[in-house]
Amino acid sequence: MSNAGVETQIKTVPIRFADLEHEAKQLMDEKVFTYAQSGAGMEETLRANREAFGSWKIVPKFMKDVSQIHLNTTVQGQEAAAPILLAPVGMQGIAHPDGELASAQAADAQGIPFIASTVSSYSLEEIAEANGNGARWFQLYFPNDIDIAASFVKRAEAAGYSAIVITVDTPVVGNRERDRANNYSPLVEGHGAANYAADPVFQQYLEAKPGAEVLEEMLQFFYRPGFNWEDIKHIRDAVDLPIYIKGILHPDDAAQAVEHGIDGIVVSNHGGRQLDGCIATLDALPLIKDRIKDSIPIFFDSGVRSGPDIVKALALGADAILLGRPYLYGLAVAGISGVEQVIENVSHDLKTTLALSGITSIQEIHSGLVRKAD
Ligand code: FNR
Repeated sequence: MSNAGVETQIKTVPIRFADLEHEAKQLMDEKVFTYAQSGAGMEETLRANREAFGSWKIVPKFMKDVSQIHLNTTVQGQEAAAPILLAPVGMQGIAHPDGELASAQAADAQGIPFIASTVSSYSLEEIAEANGNGARWFQLYFPNDIDIAASFVKRAEAAGYSAIVITVDTPVVGNRERDRANNYSPLVEGHGAANYAADPVFQQYLEAKPGAEVLEEMLQFFYRPGFNWEDIKHIRDAVDLPIYIKGILHPDDAAQAVEHGIDGIVVSNHGGRQLDGCIATLDALPLIKDRIKDSIPIFFDSGVRSGPDIVKALALGADAILLGRPYLYGLAVAGISGVEQVIENVSHDLKTTLALSGITSIQEIHSGLVRKAD
């Protein structure tokens, strides 16, 4: 990777999220930054995600011994340094040449799980190598071909990924107006084709079709608008891994996931990038928790930026949270070190928040710790 070896000077990334975002903006190509930062439509959901955090307040207790604070927890039965995962963020090569290799390595160094996207800039095998002995999951955008879908997840299992995360909120791409105005799609430009290009089943398909090009054919398969619960059985048959569903917002869908034997859900609206006008994830979370209780793990994302955000999400029922844009910006600013620093900064904030709330471990966080503001 470009920042390995002799290049030892480490750039400090801004601590405040607003400054981090600002610095990333200075360094990234304008269209690329807009792609990363923006939401769908009028960005009502992008804003609502943040506003929802403001509508819940922590009610602290004092005079407890908070000299020792432990952030460690278990995610999927494995020890993690903090209740934080790196969300599947596709095409990270547009933010930094090291892309997912840097993020996956940073996650391993910080002891938290990494979720690799179907549309990564590097293949899942290359990312697995960079991630070493780290915990990693593979996120599947279910292709419109069962055999390619099965091949992807089998490759992930062979490369040491310990779970499959199927994203269900993208039967079609959201109406990303700012990208459309810029006439920019990194997917269409071919930045997310590595997993398709490396896939043996997809290659067989290409060979049988003279003159076919990777990108053009990949885009034919990419969306599966008819995706349904039955399709998940194909993944169950293909691999012996837990299956999580990402993009759940309705309690009915959460209950269906439990009924279908799904191993966990991610309450997510894709960081406000898919259905604009939809419910903020922090508003959806307590309704979902109330419906499915402790039956399966609940992960959470969209708008998490700080320690208090994490405490609120965990108090309202999440087992752990996923970070998206913050680490992508860290990557853009300072590569692998930037991602590590973002994880460290958020963890520091989480630790301070716990101490000031009278809580000494993740396991102690409970629903009584937060209250909806009047
Ligand atoms: C995403 N997200 C996403 N999700 C997914 O399942 N597969 C993917 O390939 C991507 N790609 C992607 C690219 C970019 C640039 C962003 C910002 C997001 C959504 C991601 O996993 C997560 O749900 C959100 O990023 C969480 O919200 P925050 O933390 O970015 O607000």
